[in-house]
Amino acid sequence: MAQKMILDLDTGIDDALAIAYALGSSEVDLIGITSEYGNVLTERSVVNSQQILHLLGHPDIPVYLGAGHSTTTNDFSVLPISAEIHGQDGVGELHLTEPHPEMVTESAVDFILRACQEYGADLSIVATGPMTNLALAIQKDLPTLKKVGQIVIMGGALTVGGNVSPFAEANISQDPEAADLLFKSGLPVTMVGLDVTLRTLFTRTDTAEWRALGTPAATAYADMVDYYIKAYEVTSPHLHGCALHDPLAVAVAIDPSLVTTFPLNLKTEIEGPSRGRTIGNNARLDDPTTRTAVCVQVDTPRFLTEFKARIGHLLAP
Ligand code: BDR
Ligand code: CA
Repeated sequence: MAQKMILDLDTGIDDALAIAYALGSSEVDLIGITSEYGNVLTERSVVNSQQILHLLGHPDIPVYLGAGHSTTTNDFSVLPISAEIHGQDGVGELHLTEPHPEMVTESAVDFILRACQEYGADLSIVATGPMTNLALAIQKDLPTLKKVGQIVIMGGALTVGGNVSPFAEANISQDPEAADLLFKSGLPVTMVGLDVTLRTLFTRTDTAEWRALGTPAATAYADMVDYYIKAYEVTSPHLHGCALHDPLAVAVAIDPSLVTTFPLNLKTEIEGPSRGRTIGNNARLDDPTTRTAVCVQVDTPRFLTEFKARIGHLLAP
C-alpha cells in the first residue's frame, strides 16, 4: 500500500521538484500540500503549489493555507536572496496562467492533525520550508501529532556551515524557535540538511534532457530549474549545478536506505550569532530515547538515478 504523504512547502523551485518527485513515485499517495512562508509569501506558496499540481495533471490534490510568519514575529517579507534564487514569483518567473481552484477552508494545522488521526503510522510528513506549521501543530495537539509515522525535514546543517549565515540553513533560520520545539518534541524526525543536499546536484545537461521530452510540463520544469541553476552560478559557482534540497527529503521518506543517518538528540541555537544552528543537545546527549536522526551521507549516484527516472517519467508525453 502506498504511504500517505503531506508536503509542507514554501513553494519555490526545489519545493516544486519535491512535488514532482512525490507524484512520480508509486510508493506515495500525496494527500495534500500545506503552505508555509519562506521562498515566497504563504498565499503565493498556495498558488504556486496549485499551479504546479495543475501542470503535472493532479489539480484535485488539496492545498492548505498555513502560517504566514514565524512563531516569534507578526509579519514576514521575502528576503532578497530568496527572490534572487527562486524568482519574484518563486517559480523562476514561469508566469503560469492556469486557473487555480478555490482555497480550501480547513487550516494547514487542522489538516495535518486530522491526517495524523486518520492515517497514524501510515502517514509521512515531509517539511521543506520553515518548521512553523509543525510547531503550531505541536502547540495545538502533540498527542495527535505523535500518531504520525515519520517526519522528514529539509533543513539544518550539522557537519557543514549554513547557507544564510556561517551557522544557519535557510529553513531553520526563518523560525529557529519552531525548529527547536520540533527537535525537542519527541516526534520522529529525520533531518535532511545541507550535509547531504549539497552533494546532490543537477546541471544544464540534465535539464536539456527534460526539455527534449517536449511536453508543456517538461518545458516548464526545464525553464524553472535553469533559472535556479543560473542563480547558483552566481551564489555558489563552485557547485557547478543546483542543489536538490527538497526532493531529497521526499526521496529519503520513501527510501531511507539512500542515506546514512546519525541518531542524535538535536536542538536549535536561538541566541547570538549562531542563531539557527542545528546541533546536538548537550542536555540530552546520553538520553536513550533519541527520536531525531541526521543524514550525514547520501548515495548520490543512486538518488540522481531515481530522481531522473521518476521525474522524467512524470514529465514525458
Ligand atoms: C531550503 O531553503 C529554501 O530556500 C529551499 O526551498 C530549501 O527548502 C534550502 O536551504
Ligand atoms: Ca523549500
